[in-house]
Amino acid sequence: TIEAVIFDLDGVITDTAEYHYLAWKQLGEELDIPFDREFNETLKGVSRTDSLERILILGGKQDAFTAQEKEALATKKNDHYVTLIQHISEQDLLPGIIAFLDEIRATGLKIGMASASKNALTVVEALGVRHYFDDIVDAATVAQSKPHPEVFLRAAEALGVAPERCIGVEDAAAGITAIHAAGMYAVGVGPETTLHEADYRVDSTDLLSLEQILASR
Ligand code: G6P
Ligand code: MG
Repeated sequence: TIEAVIFDLDGVITDTAEYHYLAWKQLGEELDIPFDREFNETLKGVSRTDSLERILILGGKQDAFTAQEKEALATKKNDHYVTLIQHISEQDLLPGIIAFLDEIRATGLKIGMASASKNALTVVEALGVRHYFDDIVDAATVAQSKPHPEVFLRAAEALGVAPERCIGVEDAAAGITAIHAAGMYAVGVGPETTLHEADYRVDSTDLLSLEQILASR
């Protein structure tokens, strides 16, 4: 039996995936490494340092900067991102998310979060949904980036629920891989093209229904 649902944040609860994209795109332009949305799919769910590394590799510039310079570039991206999320409020919750969280609560399951973002708590608080989560695990305490399962395993542990009794919800291909590697049931939100490995998939958050997810197992 399923006892918990563990959420990714960016692109699932709110559309901050778009802000991460815009912030990386701006840094990419500053570095003369332009990229499109298709390449951006490979950055979703991936940590700040790993994302920078992927962009530099794309531009053939992975050896062009010292470790210290790379740290400064990552900070620059985060400054762009923090500017973009400055005015986030409950208006920015994706459609149907509150109804879905309420349904999970009413069914008596625990609710967790597994985010690769160091900004996760700030965003969750700005959205006004902190109280829904029994626990939040973010990048501050996790060493390995998705697709590694660490963040999902840590989230299950924090909830006191065995991984095989957890459902993970993700918008990124790396996230679906991480959920599976953790031994959980993977729910994808987004297009089939990127999320074909999910056990169950919806096109958008307003279609998330715990009843239907449980019935699909
Ligand atoms: C999430 C997003 C990624 C982002 C990562 C790190 O997983 O999907 O796009 O790079 O978090 O976020 P941070 O806020 O720590 O830079
Ligand atoms: Mg995401």
